[in-house]
Amino acid sequence: MNDVPQIVKIKEIIDETPSIKTFVFDWDMDKYGTPNPGEFLMVWNFNNEKPMSISKINDNELAITVKNVGEFTNELHQLKVGDVLGIRGSYGNGFSYDLKNKKVLAIGGGVGMAPINSIATALANNGNDVDVISAAVNGDELLFVDSLKDIGVNVCPCTDDGSVGFKGFATNLAIELIKDTSYDIAFVCGPEIMMKGVFDILEDNEIPAEYSMERYMKCALGICGQCCVDNTGWRICVEGPVFSNDLLKEINEFGKYHRDASGIKH
Ligand SMILES: Cc1cc2nc3c(=O)[nH]c(=O)nc-3n(C[C@H](O)[C@H](O)[C@H](O)COP(=O)(O)OP(=O)(O)OC[C@H]3O[C@@H](n4cnc5c(N)ncnc54)[C@H](O)[C@@H]3O)c2cc1C
Ligand code: FES
Repeated sequence: MNDVPQIVKIKEIIDETPSIKTFVFDWDMDKYGTPNPGEFLMVWNFNNEKPMSISKINDNELAITVKNVGEFTNELHQLKVGDVLGIRGSYGNGFSYDLKNKKVLAIGGGVGMAPINSIATALANNGNDVDVISAAVNGDELLFVDSLKDIGVNVCPCTDDGSVGFKGFATNLAIELIKDTSYDIAFVCGPEIMMKGVFDILEDNEIPAEYSMERYMKCALGICGQCCVDNTGWRICVEGPVFSNDLLKEINEFGKYHRDASGIKH
């Protein structure tokens, strides 16, 4: 882990969808450590700093995948190859990546596919049989479908409008897949309303699962308390962002509310 922002040069920018870009940069794994799938980085553009999941982990190279939704992410989207960022981390506990010979279901909604891409890649490369539900509002916004297929993952695209793949929500497709396949474990990341729906389905079917949670973060060091959740007081930046289904049950606010930068509930 590296708590001092390292200045990295953006070496590649991939236009993934009309609203999502991937930024690739070199990362000295010997010096700063090799992140595990599900861990996140604090990304500083010398104006503001926000958490981003690691979407790709290659030899001495990392990537983040960013959806343009507000001021900070819009600023990132204006960057060009050769521009620099300050990166600290990696932080958080990540997913269980050290599995072998398992039947895995990974579900990513929208830009929630970022950490799902890194865990699905690691598990497929480790000999697991991985099905991925990549869900988005429409076909243009689908993430990582072709690149995951290329490494042997069975990708099931799923769109709200039915323009590509299954028509409906990730929850509906999860129900269909679970009918025919017996999964050992599932990994989930996406809007919390989606994760809550998936949580109920996986619990009903007794499939153990890990979920990546998002909360507003400031320090990412476990000090400021900004990302604490009710009633446990767990810090999403330290005890999370990944929680097993058993731990998630303890977080009363899951699927109900979150706090903004000033601590107000929404
Ligand atoms: C552990 C962790 C990992 C994260 N990983 C990623 C990642 O891989 N990629 C990524 O793009 N973001 C990721 N985020 C979210 C990111 O840190 C920012 O909070 C988010 O991108 C909004 O930043 P902003 O300043 O541009 O928008 P803000 O000004 O904070 O928000 C602008 C508007 O967009 C809404 N909004 C905020 N976040 C989202 C969202 N994710 N999707 C849709 N609407 C949103 C807000 O409610 C608000 O209405 C992660 C957050 C956490 C805690
Ligand atoms: S962001 Fe400060 S404790 Fe988590």
